[in-house]
Amino acid sequence: MIAAYEIVDHAYDVIVIGAGGAGLRATFGLAEEGLSTACISKVFPTRSHTVAAQGGMSAALGNMGEDDWRWHMYDTVKGSDWLGDQDAIEYMCREAASAVIELEHFGVPFSRTDDGKIYQRPFGGMTTHFGEGRAERTCAAADRTGHAILHTLYQQSLKHQAEFFVEYFALDLIMDDDGACHGVIAWNLEDGTIHRFRAHMTVLATGGYGRTYFSCTSAHTCTGDGNAMVLGAGLPLQDMEFVQFHPTGVYGSGCLITEGVRGEGGYLSNSEGERFMERYAPNAKDLASRDVVSRAMTLEMREGRGVGPEKDYIYLHLEHLGPDVIQERLPGISETAKVFAGVDVTREPIPVLPTVHYNMGGIPTNYHGEVVTLKDGNPDHVVPGLMAIGECACVSVHGANRLGSNSLLDIVVFGRAAAKRCAEIITPGERHSPAPSHSEDKALGRLDRLRNAKGNIPTAAVRLNMQRVMQSHAAVFRTGDTLEEGVKLINDVWESFKDVGVSDRGLIWNTDLLETLELDNLLRQALVTMFSARNRTESRGAHAREDYPDRDDENWMKHTLIWMNGHGQPNIDYRPVHMYTLTNEAKVIPPKARVY
Ligand code: FUM
Repeated sequence: MIAAYEIVDHAYDVIVIGAGGAGLRATFGLAEEGLSTACISKVFPTRSHTVAAQGGMSAALGNMGEDDWRWHMYDTVKGSDWLGDQDAIEYMCREAASAVIELEHFGVPFSRTDDGKIYQRPFGGMTTHFGEGRAERTCAAADRTGHAILHTLYQQSLKHQAEFFVEYFALDLIMDDDGACHGVIAWNLEDGTIHRFRAHMTVLATGGYGRTYFSCTSAHTCTGDGNAMVLGAGLPLQDMEFVQFHPTGVYGSGCLITEGVRGEGGYLSNSEGERFMERYAPNAKDLASRDVVSRAMTLEMREGRGVGPEKDYIYLHLEHLGPDVIQERLPGISETAKVFAGVDVTREPIPVLPTVHYNMGGIPTNYHGEVVTLKDGNPDHVVPGLMAIGECACVSVHGANRLGSNSLLDIVVFGRAAAKRCAEIITPGERHSPAPSHSEDKALGRLDRLRNAKGNIPTAAVRLNMQRVMQSHAAVFRTGDTLEEGVKLINDVWESFKDVGVSDRGLIWNTDLLETLELDNLLRQALVTMFSARNRTESRGAHAREDYPDRDDENWMKHTLIWMNGHGQPNIDYRPVHMYTLTNEAKVIPPKARVY
């Protein structure tokens, strides 16, 4: 029997869950459209993980040389290793310039060129003339671009009088028997009360699930809570096998050192002092796409050319850039390198390592942000009442590998798109249909079960086991054997969670319970990631199978869809990649060999 909880009811036109860049762009866009909007966040909005984004946001402004959004589209399709949906990529790249200019008008303090334009730097995989030249396309606010954008979007949200519910943890979606979403049940961490938020549209903007891994650039809050709620609602996640390793996480701590360092002229070297990227990517070199650079670094270390006593890291050099450039363009990472590696970047290289950074996979959506699923043979069936935007979504604009600086673009473009779509389909103040009966039972049942879990294994121990398995078995390189073993090991961790022990300190600031709920969410995503990876017998983007080293377009140019039943058993199906464009202004980019 579920304990009796007092439930506080709320009703809005739209609720947004998550207050990172995507969530905030949607939130104030919705408020601006006259829709009553609440944003629910488990952390204070300006502490959301967007704050940690460094290098910039891509858009073909052409401020530093010629550029064209079609070249950007080409680079993004190639970067995605032809798994990205080309209609959505076209939309994102075409909308990019107006999205940046809009941000500038909202108040984002971008760095400037000498003639006062928004400063743009080169980033990996970004070219001109369909792969011929090198683009300077990434709009930067020094190396604190995410910070600048997040704070501006929060100020805009306050200006438009959006309502915030801060330090509320979303427990479960309210779904009806026809598969439509009607809102969310949330737990107020501060006073322990339970809240039922009804809405015509629920927009998930809950970020990635980097914390399934031992070493990642993600904040501790990146536990993919929206993804887990979607799985819990019997809906699929998409392309979960594609996990991005950023080439330059600080050795030991995993803190991000922006790709902007290499954009400004920094480079990698091995223990022999060799600039080894010249061998792996003769044209783009250190600015090849992230999957290519991470694999090259891993091979160098494997072949004994890593740096340090254990030969287990690589050097990132920027000392040759000079203190002025470093001070002006890269002040944040200078501090990070000092604090986390004890390195003065004006004199010494930074020890770095490929580190988990981004999830290309997530909740399948169309380019309006509407969640889609496979139903009655239709792979693009829209789930009523539910949207997903930002890293938790798989639109899919990043396919098998995301290009650096396309993520800040993604969150702003699709946050805005979701707000526009809601304005088209919802009338402000529309009456709510009656709440599905017992809408809170599932959420409260789970809360009760974990509150009263009196097993023998602490949450932290289960989490560490999960992170170790993911780090070693769903890594930069994978094989059938490691993935098969990974499936077994992650299943064992899943089973061990049944014996978790949680201290019952009530519902007010019970951080042990909160972390256990987050771990429950993480475990589901770890499972579906490992299962999806085992099934895909090819190499594409970030999914590098040593036993299947080639991309196999004939059999595998398709998105993985994965469902999970209550017993942790997955069910896999596939949906086609969108090989069409929205307008005649862009042409479909047919697959070809991906070399940099
Ligand atoms: O390296 C970076 O600054 C990260 C950017 C990104 O992931 O888009």
